[in-house]
Amino acid sequence: MLEHGGALNAAAVRYGRPAQEWLDLSTGINPHAYPVPALDPECWRRLPQDDDGLEAAALAYYGSRQLLAVAGSQAAIQALPELFPPGRVLLLSPSYAEHAAAWKRAGHAMHFLDAHAGNGELEAAAAGCDYVLLCQPNNPTGTRFAKERLLALAESLEKRGGALLLDEAFIDGTPDDSLAEACGRPGLVVLRSLGKFFGLAGARVGFVLADADLLSALRETLGPWTLSGPARAVARAALADHAWQAAMRLRLKNEGERLARQLRERYLGLSRGTSLFQWLPHARAAAIHEALARRGILVRRYEDPPSLRFGLPGGEEAWTRLATALEQLENSNAI
Ligand SMILES: Cc1ncc(COP(=O)(O)O)c(C=O)c1O
Repeated sequence: MLEHGGALNAAAVRYGRPAQEWLDLSTGINPHAYPVPALDPECWRRLPQDDDGLEAAALAYYGSRQLLAVAGSQAAIQALPELFPPGRVLLLSPSYAEHAAAWKRAGHAMHFLDAHAGNGELEAAAAGCDYVLLCQPNNPTGTRFAKERLLALAESLEKRGGALLLDEAFIDGTPDDSLAEACGRPGLVVLRSLGKFFGLAGARVGFVLADADLLSALRETLGPWTLSGPARAVARAALADHAWQAAMRLRLKNEGERLARQLRERYLGLSRGTSLFQWLPHARAAAIHEALARRGILVRRYEDPPSLRFGLPGGEEAWTRLATALEQLENSNAI
């Protein structure tokens, strides 16, 4: 099993501090999660119904013609590689590591492109591959590619019998960047998640947008009732709540900028990312991670390249706690 952010209990044991005393910034999950409505008790008792309005709400939200609900985009990440004939797959590095693990497990040949590769290098590297898998925007580096480039890439891969797979788990803050509306052709697959922008990671809800044949193969693989009734009810409400979405986009944009500013002001350097996290390459990443952990602040650490990912603090007290810790680090020469 790969390591992920959010392993708060393990940190609590390791540093001898109870979990409730930590400030957990180790994920990119929105700390202001969608307020879960009171649920109809029936949704716990009945088998989940395919025609309960979830798909309709999702089709409207994503602007797509067809999709499949899955138990978190992770369920699709694990199942999809088996549905493509063995081939060469290009992925960014660093990126969300579950993709590489799943394609490798399914017997595909792996190729990696530096997440900071310059213009044109994506297309050059893709020319030798059958499949290209990108997180758009990339986790953790925040790398984004222009839509026109991605559409052209999908077209050229499709002509060779390949496909472009886009993991848009972090795109909800900037929905105009999504390729969801272009899905429906064999060369393009888009994954979406309710775990990040909506902050509903525990509900395990995601969607796959793709051509009808791939969706029906995936449906067969995953079987019936992949989403629980309560998860479907919460997801349907969240996807239909346009007022909450619009207000949250603005709020997260401001908070993402505030986080980047706070890191910069503490001489940590320039970070990149999305409204939900900032990624900071830093030669002393390990020391900073350790110093923050000793103060009860958990951030995500990467070894290659040495870097840290900071999620958003959830309230003023948490912002102050992070600012104070960074100031102490600066004064103690740990940075
Ligand atoms: C880029 C990316 N994609 C997908 C996932 C999986 O999310 P979920 O299964 O909750 O939809 C994650 C989780 O961290 C992620 O970072």
